[in-house]
Amino acid sequence: MASSLLGGAESFTLIRGVTPKRIAFLGFLSIIYDDVINPGHWTEDMRDDALEPADLNNRNMIVVDGGGGTGFTTLGIVKHVDAKNVTILDQSPHQLAKAKQKEPLKECKIIEGDAEDLPFPTDYADRYVSAGSIEYWPDP
Ligand SMILES: C[S@@+](CC[C@H](N)C(=O)[O-])C[C@H]1O[C@@H](n2cnc3c(N)ncnc32)[C@H](O)[C@@H]1O
Repeated sequence: MASSLLGGAESFTLIRGVTPKRIAFLGFLSIIYDDVINPGHWTEDMRDDALEPADLNNRNMIVVDGGGGTGFTTLGIVKHVDAKNVTILDQSPHQLAKAKQKEPLKECKIIEGDAEDLPFPTDYADRYVSAGSIEYWPDP
């Protein structure tokens, strides 16, 4: 099971603290995340409320969604900001593969990486958003 999940990604980037076991676990989660895990406790209404403090008030804003996973929160972001200005960063290639399949996210930049070691210069983005991910970071 783990090896087939690992085989589902096109390539891997070595990210701090991310073991093949973790990648495989997240790969499994990516299959059921949107349809089974989320609906019970992380709804579109909750997400849209959670995004309000980000004050996404201009479609030209540059936004980074750290730990963006399958793009569930990013779908809320692109209601307010042009998708081409939004980066989804996640440590899991499988979660990102799900995000890539979503039509409204087609123009987003997708980066496999560590949300605690962002590959951007200081002040690159107007907003840094993260939902349901910080609690998994080793040193947030
Ligand atoms: C519960 S999901 C939340 C996904 C999405 N933000 C949402 O609202 O549905 C947590 C995500 O955080 C990612 N993640 C955890 N630690 C990370 C880190 N240090 N860097 C990048 N992504 C991380 C996981 O790979 C997973 O996709």
